[in-house]
Parts: sequence; C-alpha cells; structure tokens
Amino acid sequence: MHKKLHLTLLPVVAALALTVANPTRAADGEAIMKKARCVACHAVDQKRVGPAYKDVAAKYKGDTKAPGHLFDKVRAGGSGNWGQVPMMPHPVDKISDEDLKAVIHWILSLD
Ligand code: HEC
Repeated sequence: MHKKLHLTLLPVVAALALTVANPTRAADGEAIMKKARCVACHAVDQKRVGPAYKDVAAKYKGDTKAPGHLFDKVRAGGSGNWGQVPMMPHPVDKISDEDLKAVIHWILSLD
C-alpha cells in the first residue's frame, strides 16, 4: 500500500524538481506535448508524421512572427510547410491557449 503510493508520487516529484531547476520550463513543454498528444506525430529530434521540433525551431529562428503563425497553424491544422501530410486541427478542448503558447515557446527555444 505505502510502496504503491510512493511509486505513484515519484514522477510528480521528479517533474516538480525539473521545473524548479529549469527556468526555461522545458519540463512544461514536454508535459504539455504529451498531454495534448502531439507526441503521436512529433518528436524533438526525429521526423515522424510531422517535422522534428528541432527542425521547426531552426526553420523559424529569428522570425518574430513565428509564435503567432504557429499558434494559428496548430489550432487550425493544415499542410504545405513541410509536405503534403496535413496536421489535424487542435481546438481549445484539446489544448488551452495557455498550453499552446507555452508549448510553442518551448519548441522555438530548442536547438
Ligand atoms: C496527426 C499528426 C499530428 C499531430 C497529433 C500533431 N501534429 Fe504538428 N504537424 C503534423 C504535420 C504533418 C505537420 C507538417 C504540416 C505542414 O507541412 O505544414 C505538423 C507541423 C507542426 C508544426 C510546424 C508548423 C509549420 O507551419 O511550420 C508545429 C509547430 C506543430 N506541428 C506543433 C504541434 C503541436 C504543438 C501539436 C500538439 C498540440 C501537434 N503539432 C500535433 C502532424 C501532427
């Protein structure tokens, strides 16, 4: 009983520790990406169905319009920037404005 409780809490404690230790909130970005199921199609440094997030960061490096553009793109879905395969739309019930902003900020900060 006690042992089981410990095992359940461990990842939470680890995530909290990471958040505190890392001011760029890398743990948040990854957690949101898992929660919103972006991981079904994206990985940080490997192309899957969608582009690797490091490639996205490289493509938009220095582009001040990128955060807004990518916000709209993930919300509405679409194709054409990386190939013919479309990304599905992600309405507010899948990912909140706040989470979407945070995850895009995190993606663009990768290098
Ligand atoms: C069903 C698969 C799928 C899922 C789920 C998915 N994506 Fe994508 N994503 C794609 C594809 C395919 C592209 C390439 C679209 C293109 O060519 O313009 C893409 C492109 C992107 C881009 C780059 C867009 C551009 O115009 O350059 C970002 C940023 C992105 N995805 C973020 C996310 C986030 C954040 C989530 C989770 C909320 C997510 N994706 C979930 C398939 C997916």
